[in-house]
Amino acid sequence: MKVLKIINFICLGLFAGCYYDNEEDLYPANECNTASVSYQSDIAPIIQANCLSCHALGSTVTSVNLQGHAKFSERAKNGSISGVINHKPGFSPMPQGGAKLSNCNIQKIEAWIASGSPNN
Ligand code: HEC
Repeated sequence: MKVLKIINFICLGLFAGCYYDNEEDLYPANECNTASVSYQSDIAPIIQANCLSCHALGSTVTSVNLQGHAKFSERAKNGSISGVINHKPGFSPMPQGGAKLSNCNIQKIEAWIASGSPNN
């Protein structure tokens, strides 16, 4: 962890936002922490940032509403969320017209689905 401490030191000197806390010492920046993924703190912000511009309640873009745990988990449980974010054959690739989600965000969503799509 000495290397991380040095990076930490350099980063702090250059950017206020470039900072390794203890959790990141355990899970370095190039690894994705998918342990204990939470709907509220991990999944909802990903959906908010990448999907709700088209999939909020009352959207005129599509009637597919992904806002809130109940709506999102319904489509997580039937496999369509995993299909669309991984661009699997037979599913409309999402975000529509945009870049694929980052690998880490996909892994977090997959881990949350695998744990039963809880409202945690
Ligand atoms: C730019 C608008 C837009 C964005 C952003 C977007 N979608 Fe969609 N999405 C659509 C439209 C339009 C449809 C309905 C038409 C279709 O199926 O292609 C759709 C359909 C879907 C469906 C149902 C289709 C199926 O094959 O089951 C799911 C699930 C879905 N989107 C998930 C997502 C997720 C998850 C995100 C974010 C990672 C996202 N979408 C981002 C526009 C968007």
